[in-house]
Amino acid sequence: MDNRLFFPATARNREAIGKVLSRILLKGGYVLEVGSGSGEHGVVFQKSFPEVTWQSSDPELSHRKSISSWIDHEELNFTMPQPLNIHVEKTPWDIPSELLTSLQGIISINMIHVATWNCTKSLLKESGKLLKKGQFLMLYGPFKIGNKHISPSNDLFDSSLKMQNKYWGVRDLEKVNEEASNNGFIKEDLIYMPSNNLSVIYRKVCLKN
Ligand SMILES: C[S@@+](CC[C@H](N)C(=O)[O-])C[C@H]1O[C@@H](n2cnc3c(N)ncnc32)[C@H](O)[C@@H]1O
Repeated sequence: MDNRLFFPATARNREAIGKVLSRILLKGGYVLEVGSGSGEHGVVFQKSFPEVTWQSSDPELSHRKSISSWIDHEELNFTMPQPLNIHVEKTPWDIPSELLTSLQGIISINMIHVATWNCTKSLLKESGKLLKKGQFLMLYGPFKIGNKHISPSNDLFDSSLKMQNKYWGVRDLEKVNEEASNNGFIKEDLIYMPSNNLSVIYRKVCLKN
């Protein structure tokens, strides 16, 4: 059965995100994607970076079904694993041991603003536990800087998010950085992306585990 979902933003941002990934990905090992959604990013990045194994995940069953369908559709069954059921707050994340030993980084695209602040904290805490020194955590999405929106459209978007759920919202980069730092990361790079989004690359610097 074809359960593929199509998320319009994915088609718009995947090329720009792919360019950032091409700067940070190493050959070999796994990248764990948290909150993969439809799976459209996953299959595109798996094809663009064949020397990496792209491990997608999502807590929504319909999204995991979509990811599986995208894997089928793109004939990636022998290269790309089936999605994991990861809800960032349900810790420890249930992750195969092979992935744990060869993880090179974690990425989450457009997730932290459609989840509670506790989810951001949990994402950073669990990533801090799983990643070893030198490995990356990349976040992509809209952020506030100095607690201010970087564009009027982000301000409007934030209001619309809060109307859907009062605990959602565009996160303040400084607060995210602080949580990252509390979990052993430094901010290595901040890249301004199209449509007023940012890519933030954190690097694990000290072993907390
Ligand atoms: C706006 S969608 C983005 C999906 C995809 N990353 C993309 O950019 O197309 C947000 C995704 O985060 C997932 N998500 C929401 N809360 C989550 C949580 N607590 N833990 C993990 N994923 C979560 C949702 O199920 C959804 O797939």
